[in-house]
Amino acid sequence: MLTPLGFSLLRQLADGQFHSGEDLAAKVGLTRARVSQVLKDAESAGLALERVKGCGYRLLEAPGFLDAKAVGARLQALRGGDDAAPRLAVEVVDQVDSTSSELLRRVPRRDIHGVVLAAEWQTAGRGRRGRPWTAIAGGSLTFSLGWQFEQGAGFLAGLSLAVGVAVARALAADGYSGIALKWPNDLVHRHRKVGGILIEMNGDALGPSTAVIGVGLNVRLPEEVRKGIDAPVTDLATVAGRKAPAIDRNLLLARLLAELAAVLDQYAREGFAPFAAEWQHRHAYQGKPVRLLLPDGAVVTGKVAGVDASGALVLADGPRRARFLAGEISLRRA
Ligand code: BTN
Repeated sequence: MLTPLGFSLLRQLADGQFHSGEDLAAKVGLTRARVSQVLKDAESAGLALERVKGCGYRLLEAPGFLDAKAVGARLQALRGGDDAAPRLAVEVVDQVDSTSSELLRRVPRRDIHGVVLAAEWQTAGRGRRGRPWTAIAGGSLTFSLGWQFEQGAGFLAGLSLAVGVAVARALAADGYSGIALKWPNDLVHRHRKVGGILIEMNGDALGPSTAVIGVGLNVRLPEEVRKGIDAPVTDLATVAGRKAPAIDRNLLLARLLAELAAVLDQYAREGFAPFAAEWQHRHAYQGKPVRLLLPDGAVVTGKVAGVDASGALVLADGPRRARFLAGEISLRRA
């Protein structure tokens, strides 16, 4: 596992140049043997390193580390002079168990409205339905955002779908084409998952409530890491194509945050209804015959008619319509 010292070491290598083991050891205050061990750990965390006798070590694809100041500056630039845009406080940590778990732990002690926590590396990243979330240091974007709503759980039923719209808009604005939503809130490209959203709530049923919105995106997942994930996945580097320039995760995060803040602000006033049509337009399964696996293991089939104003999936079976609040959909071949 990468330690904070390991990260300071990787930050020394972020320029993509060769650094000797001796220099690195002196800069971060480790022995050369420890430097070599930490770099081996970095390789197992998914980073590609080159070792050349007499030259030292070099990161083959220097990830451009996340940096709170850089995200803040890009966010400011994206907003222009819009002083009415919601304020966000961006924090970046090298390592945490899960950015969402950390924000949830803060809820009893601090106001987390507008607090963004992004991590280079999560040691216990969580996905929906209790699944782990696999991400790699430097090759993913994993962050959580706290948001306070006056309303309670009922009003927030469609929130995760609205967040999906914000993420899809940001990715489209950053030039990634063909990224669609998959109910309830996966981001997919050609039916392969490129990102996911996990929303957790804290508060009273009638409000107010605090949402912790966790977003994970695959930026550059090596083949070995993909093999360990038991679902079809892809990454933004693949979506962008081989000729595209390296992905600036700080800019991408800023774009995501700008869209998220605008969507959350509107959602707090108007709920999911104004996003429903756009959500359906972006749905990869709209109008398609699907199989829906319900949380209790039962399976229903039907054609996707859309989502209702609370974000429930509406399936059509001939003239009959049924709505579902949870489950996993997959395409049903005719
Ligand atoms: C899913 O299963 O599709 C949801 C994945 C959500 C992952 C993100 S990464 C940042 C935040 N912290 C976590 O532990 N999970 C979410």
